[in-house]
Amino acid sequence: RTVYVNGDYVPEAEAKVSVFDRGFLFADGVYEVTSVLDGKLIDFDGHAKRLERSLGELEIGVPLSREDLLEVHRQLIARNELTDGLIYLQITRGAADRDFIYPAADTPQTVVLFTQAKPGLADSPVARTGLKVISIDDIRWGRRDIKTVQLLYPSMGKMMAKAAGADDAWMVEDGVVTEGTSNNAYIVKNGKIITRHLGTEILHGITRAAVLRFAREAQMEVEERAFSIEEAQDADEAFITSASSFVTPVVEIDGATVGTGKPGFVATRLREIYLDESR
Ligand code: PDD
Repeated sequence: RTVYVNGDYVPEAEAKVSVFDRGFLFADGVYEVTSVLDGKLIDFDGHAKRLERSLGELEIGVPLSREDLLEVHRQLIARNELTDGLIYLQITRGAADRDFIYPAADTPQTVVLFTQAKPGLADSPVARTGLKVISIDDIRWGRRDIKTVQLLYPSMGKMMAKAAGADDAWMVEDGVVTEGTSNNAYIVKNGKIITRHLGTEILHGITRAAVLRFAREAQMEVEERAFSIEEAQDADEAFITSASSFVTPVVEIDGATVGTGKPGFVATRLREIYLDESR
C-alpha cells in the first residue's frame, strides 16, 4: 500500500511518524473516514468541512487546502487502485517535547492518510440481516462534536458488545441515547424518523446530514430529539448511519427485538436512496 505522510507518498513499510507526535502522546489530533465506492469519493465536501471545524475548535492549524486534500484522496485512490473501501485521514498538532502546554503555533502538523480496501463495502451482509446492539453508559468527554482520535472508550464499547454476542453498542447518558460507538443512532415510529438533535454530545455525522436531507426530500417525517433505550425497543424500526456503514438496520437492542426483528422498510429505503444518490 502507498500511504501519504507529510507531503510524501511512500510505501507503508517506510512511513514514519515521530515518537514525540502529540497524536501518540496526548491523542491531540483529529481524523476523518471517507468511503470510496467504485473509485468515487462519497461526501468529500462534508468531511473536509467538518475536518476544518474540528481543527479550528482545537486551535490546530489547517495544513492543507480543501483542493490539496481532495488531490491527496484522488492520488491515494489511483496509486492503490482502490475500488471500494475507506480513506482514513489524521491530522495531529505535530511533534514536540512532551509538555501539556501546546507547542509553538508554527510547529508543523502531522498529516497521515491511508486507504483500506473493503471489497463489496456497499453490499455487506449485515445490511440484510440487521445489527444487534447493547446499551452502555456514555462516559466519553463532553466535546464529541470534535472528531478527535480519542477512541479508547468506543473501542471498549465494541469489545463489550462482542463479549455480549452483539455487533455494536449505543451509548446512554442521562437516560437517553447519545449515539453508537462509531455511528449515529435512529428509531422509526409510525413512519417518523427520530434521531438525537445536534449538540456537543454527539458527532455531527456527515452521513446523518445527507440521510436526513434525502428523507425530507422524500416527504418522510423527521424529528430531531433524544430517545431512551425503552422507546427504541418499542419502536417499529431502528438503524445507524456512518461513512463506513451508510444506513444499516438495527434489529435487536439489549436482547429485545425491534419491530419484526427484520430490517425495516424505512431503513432499507433510506439505504437505497443514500447509495443511489451518493454514487
Ligand atoms: N465514525 N458518531 C461517531 C462517534 C462516529 O465515530 C462516527 C463516524 C459517526 C458517523 O459520522 P459520519 O457519518 O460522518 O461517518 C457518528 C467513523 C466512520 C469511524 O470512526 O470509523
